[in-house]
Amino acid sequence: MDIAVVGLGYVGTVTGACLADLGHFVVAVDVNPIKVGQVNEGISPVTEDQLDEMVRRCVETGTLSATDDLADAVRRSEVVLVCVGTPSGRTGDVHLDDVRRVMTEIGGTLRDLDGWRLVLITSTVPPGTLVDDIIPELERSSGKRWPEEFGVAFSPEFLREGTAVEDYRQPPKIIVGASDDRSFEVAAAVRASVAGEVVRTSISAAEMVKFTDNAWHALKVAFANEIGRIADVHGVDSLEVMSLFKSDTDLNISTTYLTPGFAFGGSCLPKDLRTLTYRARRRGASVPVLESVLSSNAAHMDLAVNKIKEAGGRTVALLGLAFKNGTDDLRESPALELAEHLIGKGFDLRIHDEHVNLDRLIGANREYVLRVLPHVAELLSPDYGAVLAEADVVVVTQKNPLYADVVASVRPDQTVIDFSGIARPAGGAPNYTGLTW
Ligand SMILES: NC(=O)c1ccc[n+]([C@@H]2O[C@H](COP(=O)([O-])OP(=O)(O)OC[C@H]3O[C@@H](n4cnc5c(N)ncnc54)[C@H](O)[C@@H]3O)[C@@H](O)[C@H]2O)c1
Repeated sequence: MDIAVVGLGYVGTVTGACLADLGHFVVAVDVNPIKVGQVNEGISPVTEDQLDEMVRRCVETGTLSATDDLADAVRRSEVVLVCVGTPSGRTGDVHLDDVRRVMTEIGGTLRDLDGWRLVLITSTVPPGTLVDDIIPELERSSGKRWPEEFGVAFSPEFLREGTAVEDYRQPPKIIVGASDDRSFEVAAAVRASVAGEVVRTSISAAEMVKFTDNAWHALKVAFANEIGRIADVHGVDSLEVMSLFKSDTDLNISTTYLTPGFAFGGSCLPKDLRTLTYRARRRGASVPVLESVLSSNAAHMDLAVNKIKEAGGRTVALLGLAFKNGTDDLRESPALELAEHLIGKGFDLRIHDEHVNLDRLIGANREYVLRVLPHVAELLSPDYGAVLAEADVVVVTQKNPLYADVVASVRPDQTVIDFSGIARPAGGAPNYTGLTW
């Protein structure tokens, strides 16, 4: 393919050279004449393992060249791949000026060109940027309609500096966000030249996943360092602790606990977090990430209460009272806390929990529930159908399979708010909403 790669930074130089090395005809574009000159002399403008050699080889064989003339590069290409920088501005928000400027120029060139071309964005941009900003700007400056007269797709780049060429060739995943088939197919053809399956998704999910990855990676480093600081003030070997931690690939290094849903709770997580952060504080270890976990959980509870208030009904059916399905442990259950909030706000509450039988509760568990919700016996019913029938709003807090078909079991005038995800109907339903979806 004839491909224009706009931006000769770390991503653009690696992408351009790798695509040229695979046999595509690449013209790289940059506003910096020094970078353009270097590439045309067979020198990489950035330092990466294997890159100098690759740039030299591709320039010699004629598959890679560089220019500062974006319009000319667009005219000669089927695909315009954009990887200009998106740095942080003063407020912390991303600076999209370079991306916008490039779009205006690409659009101005498309105006006078026959034939459909794909604009493939790989610069990291926040969700909504393509649909709200980039596509309207391309349509305005070109006078053409998307996706009939030009295509747009977003494909995040996951390479890491230092191992960028290897990462480009063996990416951890290949994601293409596109809303029309033609844009997807052409973008996939560009991306499919490296190893791995091309996964199609929406433009906004593709935009967001890159931020999600980077936030997760940063969080992992901060978490490991905080555990290191806590271990240090306790005289414990942090490398040994983290080695044991990482050896658990069921609960720790796994997909477990990584699905948005309801707040966490139960008899262990909040208690042990409080102990850990209290002890760290007392011994002088600063652990701001761990300190903020419980307030993040509380923010989720606030959101849950607000969603129920916004639904507008007075009678609420709460499906699930224990902190998760399959247990009758009510200690620090977020559903119990939610029930307490709702009663405080004057809601009329009915509760169903398949596994909670007050007569069988004993010890600390019984004391806890009676302290938090003294009238729980009057609210709790084993009759699922009756609990549903009386409610204006049905709130699902647990992944109990019994609740999977709740949308089909309620009347259209009843609202289902699902904090667990178990009741999400394929294709959605007008009276169904999740906590964050
Ligand atoms: N660096 C990484 O490891 C990495 C990894 C994945 C994704 N990303 C993302 O990829 C994008 C590019 O990152 P980078 O590190 O390669 O950026 P960079 O700052 O190294 O390079 C950007 C290049 O774009 C050029 N440029 C700016 N305006 C231009 C214009 N109007 N026309 C042509 N060229 C123009 C600049 O001169 C510069 O050479 C960013 O959005 C970044 O967040 C970076």
